[in-house]
Amino acid sequence: MTHGDPGVTALASPNLALVKYWGKAPGGVNLPATPSLGISLAALETRTVVRRLAATSQSNDRVEIAGEPQRSSRFEDFFENIRSELGAEIRFDAQSRNNFPTAAGLASSASGFAALSLACAELCECPLSPAKLSAIARVGSGSAARSVFGGFVVFPAGSPAAESFAPPDHWPELRVLICRVSESEKAISSRAGMEHTRRTSPFYENWVTDAESVYNRACRAVEQRDLEGLGEAMRESYLRMFATMISAGPPFLYWQPESVALIHLCERLRRNGIAAWETMDAGPQVKILTLSSYVPMVRAAVEQELTTAHVLESEVGLATRLAERGPS
Ligand code: PMV
Repeated sequence: MTHGDPGVTALASPNLALVKYWGKAPGGVNLPATPSLGISLAALETRTVVRRLAATSQSNDRVEIAGEPQRSSRFEDFFENIRSELGAEIRFDAQSRNNFPTAAGLASSASGFAALSLACAELCECPLSPAKLSAIARVGSGSAARSVFGGFVVFPAGSPAAESFAPPDHWPELRVLICRVSESEKAISSRAGMEHTRRTSPFYENWVTDAESVYNRACRAVEQRDLEGLGEAMRESYLRMFATMISAGPPFLYWQPESVALIHLCERLRRNGIAAWETMDAGPQVKILTLSSYVPMVRAAVEQELTTAHVLESEVGLATRLAERGPS
């Protein structure tokens, strides 16, 4: 690191999939086999500072998350690709921090690669369109393609980049309660998990065929701000995704007993007229979609059910952006 070099700082929020990307299409790096729809989570943030690595071109790029040096193999393809896209020769030195646990099913790779892409491009003084940035971030992690955008974001099957679907203020009452039931890092990365299910689950092909209609219903529900319609499509998407995992050979499961308790709790809340629609990703955490007026009730119910759960309320967030320059 060059001492005193402020570098370039980018901020990004993870993008929570309401309809899941799970499985890769052939023909490119991290091209999605299924269309996904997600929202940016304002309450979670990755802050990444990138500097020029003051070293010879032989040395590797460096990445630290929360001060911990990361395995370079996880980042090699990403850096090779971004260097060729930017026509840059330099090596990057990135330091990243999340205001939430890393690799615990809270999409830290999505916000991480989105922030890293923008900071690297800016450091090389190469302004890129959001579509280009999204395609670059995708090489790091598929869901990072969505994290480049704010608000409601779609990522069509087979597409190299995500697209904006609706701005952050499209549905002002929408809230997500992020329920952290475990802080441990997941044992199987989503990358390994989706490849394993593609190769071994007899349900995988049906999952892919069926995904388009669930996605179309969810998109219509977002357009109409119809939480029940969205919630029903969301549940089909995440539960069918997990069906591919528990039917894989050997099967694997990210859920913990606490996750299941919250799935049942949401069902009970809905039976009592309280809008609480859960979803989960490659980890044990449960994210509950609701409306601002229900937040106190849903939060109280979660905290009563699981005294150890950590509940964070989030609005729909912004796109990946540069931090304002100033003293750090
Ligand atoms: O982008 P990846 O490789 O971290 O995979 C994301 C997979 C899910 O989070 C489970 C679904 C999604 O669309 O974000």
